[in-house]
Amino acid sequence: MAQGIKIVTIGGGSSYTPELVEGFIKRYDELPVRELWLVDIEEGKEKLEIVGNLARRMIEKAGLPIEVHLTLDRRAALQNADFVTTQFRVGLLDARAKDERIPLSYGVLGQETNGPGGLFKGLRTIPVILEIVQDMKELCPDAWLINFTNPAGMVTEAVLRYTDHKKIVGLCNVPIGIEMGIAKLLDIDHSRIRIDFAGLNHMVYGLDVYVDGVSVKEKVMELLSDPENSSFVKNIEGQGWEPEFIRALNVLTCPYHMYYYKTDEMLQKELENFRNGTTRAEVVQQLEEELFELYKDPDLAVKPPQLEQRGGAYYSDAAVRLISSIYNDKRDIQPVNTINNGAIASIPDDSAVEVSCVITKEGPRPIVHGDLPVAVRGLVQQIKSFERVGAEAAVTGNYDTALLAMTINPLVPSDKIGKAILDEMLEAHKEHLPRFFKKINV
Ligand code: G6P
Repeated sequence: MAQGIKIVTIGGGSSYTPELVEGFIKRYDELPVRELWLVDIEEGKEKLEIVGNLARRMIEKAGLPIEVHLTLDRRAALQNADFVTTQFRVGLLDARAKDERIPLSYGVLGQETNGPGGLFKGLRTIPVILEIVQDMKELCPDAWLINFTNPAGMVTEAVLRYTDHKKIVGLCNVPIGIEMGIAKLLDIDHSRIRIDFAGLNHMVYGLDVYVDGVSVKEKVMELLSDPENSSFVKNIEGQGWEPEFIRALNVLTCPYHMYYYKTDEMLQKELENFRNGTTRAEVVQQLEEELFELYKDPDLAVKPPQLEQRGGAYYSDAAVRLISSIYNDKRDIQPVNTINNGAIASIPDDSAVEVSCVITKEGPRPIVHGDLPVAVRGLVQQIKSFERVGAEAAVTGNYDTALLAMTINPLVPSDKIGKAILDEMLEAHKEHLPRFFKKINV
């Protein structure tokens, strides 16, 4: 058997790839990657080559024997893979712009993973993930699928519910971003912090936070009530909590909670961006152009600092530490998306949750948290229902199910508005929704 690990990254032409490559370089001693296969589709070919060549230069500079393969042939890449990571975007950033702009044109929040935008990203992504899982079953049945593709919660839910491939972990940089942000506020090294995370992807709470084994929750809740400290990711502007509210909530929030607890302020800000042509997709489109110009420079052999303008900071740390802990059976604790199995009492056992887990060679073992505090329990259950119904709509291509998912989302104000948004978005994303437009696509 060949020595070293074979990693396959689907969506390899992503501007985030240098982030991942940096992670593999940094941890090569504990995670000896032999081959990194970057896979993309025809439309992403140019980006794949640019980013692939940068990856090669980074590895050469580090003096490591990692082979980088670039391909448009997913099945060829998947053969005997050990880990498959997914970071693709069906319909590219143009589709994201539609996910944001169409709901906003109805006065409804338009966001990549929340509300109608999150639903449509799921509808486009889930069928593709299911195809990848099908290929994995045949070509690398023992490989772990590490999914970063959003909406990561709905995608993990779909794989757990509609396939028999249980070796999937959904991964997000939000928990690690919170840990890093709090370490900075407390002016201590990140390794001394532990947060008990429980909830769903982009709907995760910190139930307690410890430094060297002692709870510092009270102090952290105080710090979080400062408007300066309300977001830890670049893609969401912190709006500042009412100190009394955040104290009474008494659990750490994630930046995405602002869409639910500050809906009006977030919507007003988004509507302003909508009018100025500066929704997040539009900002990211501009950033991507600049990044790819930089990536083309043959003298560049490191991850450029400009990548930090994106929301995915620390994503390579999260990804590589997870892969390494599975590979090395480290049994350390990391927050990931996995099957609940009783970790959160009010969520079905067979559903995906984002929760602190012990990471072993057999995968994540969720830590039991019991029930969530009553003030947050209902919202988490509602979003879980949305993810489940959304996943079902993606798999079946059923219109009524999609309307149901749309309308039960707490950010959608009525069935009538939901239906109007649904109809316009279905039409706008038609080419990426073969299960909804069977006759057109056969
Ligand atoms: C966050 C989320 C990711 C998301 C990213 C978007 O940090 O955790 O799930 O993909 O931001 O960032 P972007 O720069 O694309 O807006």
